[in-house]
Amino acid sequence: MKQEIIQQTEYWNKEVNTFDSIYTAEKSKFSKWLDKVFRWDMQARYDYTFKNSEPVLDKTILDVGCGTGVFSLEFARRNAKFITGIDIAEQMINVCIERAEREGFSSKCEFIKTDLLEYKTNQKYDICIGIGLFDYIKEPQNVISKMYDVVNDRAIMSFPRFWTWRAPVRKIRLGLRKCSVYFYTKKRIDTLIKTAGFKRYDIEKVGKLFCVIAYVK
Ligand SMILES: C[S@@+](CC[C@H](N)C(=O)[O-])C[C@H]1O[C@@H](n2cnc3c(N)ncnc32)[C@H](O)[C@@H]1O
Repeated sequence: MKQEIIQQTEYWNKEVNTFDSIYTAEKSKFSKWLDKVFRWDMQARYDYTFKNSEPVLDKTILDVGCGTGVFSLEFARRNAKFITGIDIAEQMINVCIERAEREGFSSKCEFIKTDLLEYKTNQKYDICIGIGLFDYIKEPQNVISKMYDVVNDRAIMSFPRFWTWRAPVRKIRLGLRKCSVYFYTKKRIDTLIKTAGFKRYDIEKVGKLFCVIAYVK
């Protein structure tokens, strides 16, 4: 396994509770205010993802870097046909499996501990998402090209923007904890998406992110 992936895996296995609490924790008024000011684009990318994937009824979904399953399980609740969530961090996958069982979705969700580049499948999914993923990918072209290979309709992705005040702060903060983080210009995303082979796409600025929908046809 590449050193980069080993470090990311260690980091995310340790961060599972902290990360999940962004979505789930009962918070003080002050924490809620901080989230509203600094993290409102997490909610915006969630809204963007579901706005651009509906109707999901009977669709198959691949959620790359599924984390604690927030997106995968929402697809299940919205009656997607089958969801595969993949993540390099076992602790994240364990949370997903437990939640899917608790909500009665085990028969239409699977969660697999793997890096996308190692994931072998003959299946093509209707929709593939990579949300909050590319922040942590050193060689994004390989990952986007693989997403193109496994999807037959559309891919939905988020990328942290390069030119924001928060980019250097995150780079230093996460770097100190041995987690590499990467940022993107619109021009770079253009090149990545085109090179992967997507025929049509739209890149939208959403706070400190770019949200992208890319179509195979
Ligand atoms: C910020 S979390 C996002 C989780 C989820 N998509 C969400 O938005 O709630 C990033 C996740 O990507 C996973 N990850 C990082 N590199 C990966 C890779 N190469 N393949 C699969 N998952 C990866 C991490 O383990 C982590 O769970």
